[in-house]
Amino acid sequence: MKNSDFVLIVDDNPTNLSVLSQALKSAGFAIRVAEDGESAIELVQHKLPALILLDVQMPGIDGFETCQKLKADPLTQNIPIIFMTALADTENKVKGLSLGAVDYIPKPFEQAEVIARVKMHLQLKQLTDHLEQKVLERTAALQKAQVQLVQQEKLSMLGQLVAGVAHEMNNPISCIISNIHPAQEYIAELTQILQLCQQQYSQLPATIQDAIAQADLDFLLEDLPKLLNSMQVSTGRIKEISVSLRNFVRADTSVKIEFDVHEGLDSTLLILRHRLKSLGQRPEIQIFKQYAALPKVECYPGQLNQVFMNILANAVDALEDAWQQDKQGNNSLAIKICTEMSSPQEVMIRISDNGIGMTDEVRQRIFDCLFTTKAVGKGTGLGLAIAHQIVVEKHGGSLQCKSSLGQGTEFVIVIPIRH
Ligand SMILES: Nc1ncnc2c1ncn2[C@@H]1O[C@H](COP(=O)(O)OP(=O)(O)OP(=O)(O)O)[C@@H](O)[C@H]1O
Ligand SMILES: [Mg+2]
Repeated sequence: MKNSDFVLIVDDNPTNLSVLSQALKSAGFAIRVAEDGESAIELVQHKLPALILLDVQMPGIDGFETCQKLKADPLTQNIPIIFMTALADTENKVKGLSLGAVDYIPKPFEQAEVIARVKMHLQLKQLTDHLEQKVLERTAALQKAQVQLVQQEKLSMLGQLVAGVAHEMNNPISCIISNIHPAQEYIAELTQILQLCQQQYSQLPATIQDAIAQADLDFLLEDLPKLLNSMQVSTGRIKEISVSLRNFVRADTSVKIEFDVHEGLDSTLLILRHRLKSLGQRPEIQIFKQYAALPKVECYPGQLNQVFMNILANAVDALEDAWQQDKQGNNSLAIKICTEMSSPQEVMIRISDNGIGMTDEVRQRIFDCLFTTKAVGKGTGLGLAIAHQIVVEKHGGSLQCKSSLGQGTEFVIVIPIRH
């Protein structure tokens, strides 16, 4: 119901009604009238007046009771009420004011006084409403800022930790990597010497023959290079992880830099890898990538990674929930990531899952701060609010969601290449 700007006069005396109506109309007010308390209450249910002038003595429910009823209803409790009565004694004045009336006008009226008081209270009401609205807005803005600060603080602490660990890992890994090659060479040489000995001395002493048999020397010499090869592959992999971790947390919050979106997606996937692996009965979550050739994008890479992380983490949650609901189902759990140039100036990243999906009601609220459908402790409801802010406000892009319950969800991120 919309607030209206008319004044409601409630009085059982027709002369009073017409005198007051005339006075207020000539002062420019819109007027409605009611002749008793009941009809006044009924009228305000349909349209809210800006102010009520209320007679105290009326047949049926009197002004005090009418006031009490209006103040008890959340819909009407904020309408300013001014009592009008001939009962100008102190006790009645106090009673009226204690029931929530804002003022009191004694009869017979001084027209100018009535108009002045009505004007003043309307102005007061307007100011109060304005202030309340401002307080609400400020509170919401503060809450939003606080939420962002907490999240940023958490991220920067996590970022520092991860960057530190990645950095510390670097030296020992580099040492292993640089030593593997000489080790391979040494082993090749030793192998050669051993083989030479075996060829030159056809009759080795019994103790050495025993030792050779026990160690299964042939197998050992064959296996050792393979073993070193796999160590080389693994250290290469650790090196990659370390680079990805550092890419993921690259501290560049103050300026935009050119960034390879695919690198961001891949390092995010790498950090989420432990959540993709099969867990107990739950099969592994498959990742399908369809990357187009994209130019580098001018952006805040750390923040964009945070967007990918929040969306991908939600997709994993949705897939886990889907699996819980449908353990016997044959559907594989999958996340698909497609990138393309949606226009010459923009890249588009689509991340979809075949998880639980969501209802329209949920979908409309997912970008709201603190909106979550997850259990306490599992979700804070910040992930997508932050992702939306990063994409839209920080990068001038768009973030959209399509979803159908039980089928899956797709997030579409569009980012301008140059901002
Ligand atoms: N891929 C998805 N499939 C189904 N529902 C989703 C998906 N992504 C988001 N949602 C819904 O949107 C809600 C809000 O997501 P959001 O990431 O903002 O918060 P959250 O995941 O609940 O908590 P957190 O702050 O830990 O991320 C989720 O609670 C979920 O209901
Ligand atoms: Mg989330």
